[in-house]
Amino acid sequence: MSDFVVVANRLPVDRVVGPEGEVGWRRSPGGLVTAITPLMRERDGAWIGWTGAADEEAESFTEDGLRLVPVPLSADDVELYYEGFSNATLWPLYHDAIVPPEFHRTAWDAYVRVNRRFAEKAAEVADKGALVWVQDYQLQLVPKMLRELRPDVRIGFFLHIPFPPGELFFRLPWRKEIVEGLLGADLVGFQLPAAAANFVRLSRRLLDVRVHGSMVHVDGRDVLAEAFPISVDVDELTDLIHRPDVRARAAQVRKELGDPACILLGVDRLDYTKGITQRLEAFGELLADGAFKPGEAVFVQVATPSRERVEQYQILRDDIELQVGRINGEFGQLGNPVINYMHTSYAREELAALYLAADVMVVTPLRDGMNLVAKEYVACHEDLRGALVLSEFAGAAEELRRAYLVNPYDVDGLKRILLEAVRADSRDLQKRMRAMRRRVVDNDVARWASEFLARLRSSTPSHDQ
Ligand code: ADP
Ligand code: G6P
Repeated sequence: MSDFVVVANRLPVDRVVGPEGEVGWRRSPGGLVTAITPLMRERDGAWIGWTGAADEEAESFTEDGLRLVPVPLSADDVELYYEGFSNATLWPLYHDAIVPPEFHRTAWDAYVRVNRRFAEKAAEVADKGALVWVQDYQLQLVPKMLRELRPDVRIGFFLHIPFPPGELFFRLPWRKEIVEGLLGADLVGFQLPAAAANFVRLSRRLLDVRVHGSMVHVDGRDVLAEAFPISVDVDELTDLIHRPDVRARAAQVRKELGDPACILLGVDRLDYTKGITQRLEAFGELLADGAFKPGEAVFVQVATPSRERVEQYQILRDDIELQVGRINGEFGQLGNPVINYMHTSYAREELAALYLAADVMVVTPLRDGMNLVAKEYVACHEDLRGALVLSEFAGAAEELRRAYLVNPYDVDGLKRILLEAVRADSRDLQKRMRAMRRRVVDNDVARWASEFLARLRSSTPSHDQ
């Protein structure tokens, strides 16, 4: 039993089976795991989630100091709940419907069934009066289900991705159930104040509940809906960039790339929300226009494999790889491609070295709840070197006002901003980086977690109401 429980679709590690059948664990992809792992180390809680493999029953175990409680998913659950409702319905719907969301009743049924399994596991693991913190869009029904099972626990929910405007959300045939599910929590957290306000407004429209500011009064309880912009582990990154091996690796990266005047860097999960195609198009056109000479500017794009069985991710991968091949075919030279594209996941040390080496970090999502990569780049530039090109449509843009902000749909605008960032003088860059660092260093992930949890603790426990 634990008095602090995190419930997320994924555990922080994925189960991997090696060529000889040996079982190992690898860090899971994405921002949620990056953000929650350090705070779990400090708080000694239990983390409930899926191991990333289908049809696998596993006992609770400890890995790298974390107490992990697996929830099994069958192959059917993976297809319908994870790839289906979570990543072919909710993910695109909540990200501006960049690709068309799919609506399937069988996928919804699986979502309900799997959410119930997570709620039951949480009810089993949580001590009397425990704090249970449910994470993200895959588990929006868990707060209500858990409350029915365990009215004594205090329940927080945090949505890591955007909450869509009514025009999009109202398409969802199960919109009422989702809002009711979330309102099972005592505190519902969002990345941005506008998302929290939007949720409160939609609750009133859909459920006819009473609302006072950020408070929704439902079933005799008060539910708070507020913004808690997530952040990065600045101490972890600072330790990394102080390591001599990481600094040496950064210098080596530059050398291996042919010592170009400018290294541009993209680091993303391979996802259609990230605007990878748009940034490569802009870069390719700058080469075609002669604004960048091959060898002078080199683009490094690292794309973590993600959701590889979902159709739209397969289409995206083919598109990007075709685009990279075309641009390299046209402008690259023997041994010197203009785009270095890696479809892989890197260790934190290697990422930190890349951030250190990069002159321009290019973060151009078409929509993103926050985007931790942007904040990681800033956290790694104690030297005040480097420029951050950042999409207006990333949550991070609300805080990082001194980045080179851009509308990623505007290819000409993107080209202009890339050129401006590449040609900026170092004094201007330093001023921008100093302002951005102040924001990130003062508001790191430890502060995010403690503010959320303090707010949750101070909410009125529902069983006292
Ligand atoms: P998302 O959560 O949508 O993937 P974020 O930018 O918020 O986007 O978080 C991504 C996290 O994954 C960051 O911590 C980043 O360092 C990490 N990451 C992204 N790409 C890679 C990669 N190729 N290798 C290792 N880590 C990566
Ligand atoms: C985003 C989501 C997380 C998710 C991560 C990786 O960060 O907000 O909930 O875990 O992407 O995606 P995956 O589908 O591999 O878990």
